[in-house]
Amino acid sequence: MTHACAPGKIILFGEHAVVYGQPALAVPVTQVQACVDIEASVNTGILIHAPNIDLHSRLDDLSPAHPLRNIIEKVFSTLNPPAPPGGIEITIDSTIPIAGGLGSGAAVSVALIRALAAFLAHPLTDEQVNAIAYEAEKLHHGTPSGIDNTVIAYARPVYYVKGRPMQTFRTARPFTIVIGDTGIPAPTRESVAAVRKLWEADKAKWEKVFERVGEIVQKARNAIESGETKELGALMNQNHALLQTLTVSSAELDRLVSTAIRAGAEGAKLSGGGRGGNMIAFVQREKAEAVADQLKRAGARRTFITQVE
Ligand code: MEV
Repeated sequence: MTHACAPGKIILFGEHAVVYGQPALAVPVTQVQACVDIEASVNTGILIHAPNIDLHSRLDDLSPAHPLRNIIEKVFSTLNPPAPPGGIEITIDSTIPIAGGLGSGAAVSVALIRALAAFLAHPLTDEQVNAIAYEAEKLHHGTPSGIDNTVIAYARPVYYVKGRPMQTFRTARPFTIVIGDTGIPAPTRESVAAVRKLWEADKAKWEKVFERVGEIVQKARNAIESGETKELGALMNQNHALLQTLTVSSAELDRLVSTAIRAGAEGAKLSGGGRGGNMIAFVQREKAEAVADQLKRAGARRTFITQVE
């Protein structure tokens, strides 16, 4: 039997603008994860169980465009095992909310690629895992930047620019983030497509907005690396306002963002694709529980407190 897990992620700054070449900052979230078990089976063929999405199917019965089928076939074609394996049974289990902005699709891909590679006795480097996961992201999201698969495959903080090699960033002083889940599933593909429509209608206008997001990301990276984190709250608020302009916030996200600030957070913003999913708040450690509590009272389905080290 082989077993592999991958964490969730949050985007601290820069979502959406990152699709257009601006930088973004993201960190792994280890409180949630996707895990995959693979064992040899007496039956022939590949059986997949994913109880979270109520999927129990033979690989061949999934449509050729199904992301799980696609990933598994990509791993086989990349590794080209000398002999086809006998029957195998794959079980996928995840605590990452689906379509919640926490990278559930990318985490399943990364865990599945690693577990299959280990099962086939052909371990892959993080870079190879990341490259295969990016191919799957393109199927899920249409025009992804690649940030989700990168932060999850390397499981490290990343400063990401589309098409450039992965760069990590240093945290001079740990800081605390509260994550609030609206509980509203919102596929990233849709919000990314909506922003693309805006951009296609007036590229100059929206590229200015993306550049302003890029400047915020740069300032946030400097603040995190110098330990001058008190600026992060204001930067989050500015980033959220620009995401509102991009039409990817929602009434529920805005309510949770204002609630967090009223409860003592230094700043807050949506995180990920938006229009549902998750928001994040930058808080002093001692205020984290109170902020999480107020977010729940304001309707958050669940909250997590995470320390960025
Ligand atoms: C989704 O986690 C982040 C987006 O910027 C999309 C992407 O970068 O592919 C919204």
